[in-house]
Amino acid sequence: MKFFVDTADTADIRSLADSGLLDGVTTNPSLVAKSGRKFTEVIAEICDIVDGPVSAEVAAIDHEGMMREAKVLKAIAKNVCIKVPLTPDGIRTCRKLADAGTMVNVTLCFSPAQAILAAKAGAAFVSPFVGRLDDIGQYGMGLIAEIMQIYNNYEFHTEVLVASVRNPVHVIEAAKLGADVVTVPPAVLRSLFVHPLTEKGLAAFLADWKKTGQTIA
Ligand code: E4P
Repeated sequence: MKFFVDTADTADIRSLADSGLLDGVTTNPSLVAKSGRKFTEVIAEICDIVDGPVSAEVAAIDHEGMMREAKVLKAIAKNVCIKVPLTPDGIRTCRKLADAGTMVNVTLCFSPAQAILAAKAGAAFVSPFVGRLDDIGQYGMGLIAEIMQIYNNYEFHTEVLVASVRNPVHVIEAAKLGADVVTVPPAVLRSLFVHPLTEKGLAAFLADWKKTGQTIA
């Protein structure tokens, strides 16, 4: 399972990249707005930090506009993955870009039928949003299970990128279902380390080690 981080905060990305756990980054217009920085500059900086795919989302909603913006974003770095919304224009743009060898992430996927469209359009990734489904009382992970089953039936090459991840349980459930990628906010990624027995056990080991009076040298 690949770990992407879902943020446009380059300080966070840098520190998580140092952990060796990062396989890529996803951003969206809301995360870029939160960063308060120029979009193209943030994407360029992220692409310098991380070798894996960096999703940069188009803002246009029409096919021609998406193609124009994709050209600008693609020129930033070779690991830019163009993110398009799951709309008729987004799917058309995905097909065109994929045919030209460009990595595309189809975002805002909320149904198995939409996921089929992304795969048929040659998307490198489809992003089903589990947290936002949970928010409205639908079981987000149920969508991941359905997409995994459908993609396996047809050996679609599109990777299932579990998005809108809100907690460690989402990560575990996605892994149990065999999802290809999870994109997680930095705080959720850091929370995966935490277990009270790890902290307690380490404190006890350190206290006992101190009693030995030894150093490892
Ligand atoms: C994915 O690419 C999106 O940026 C993201 O996961 C959305 O998450 P949210 O629902 O917490 O905003």
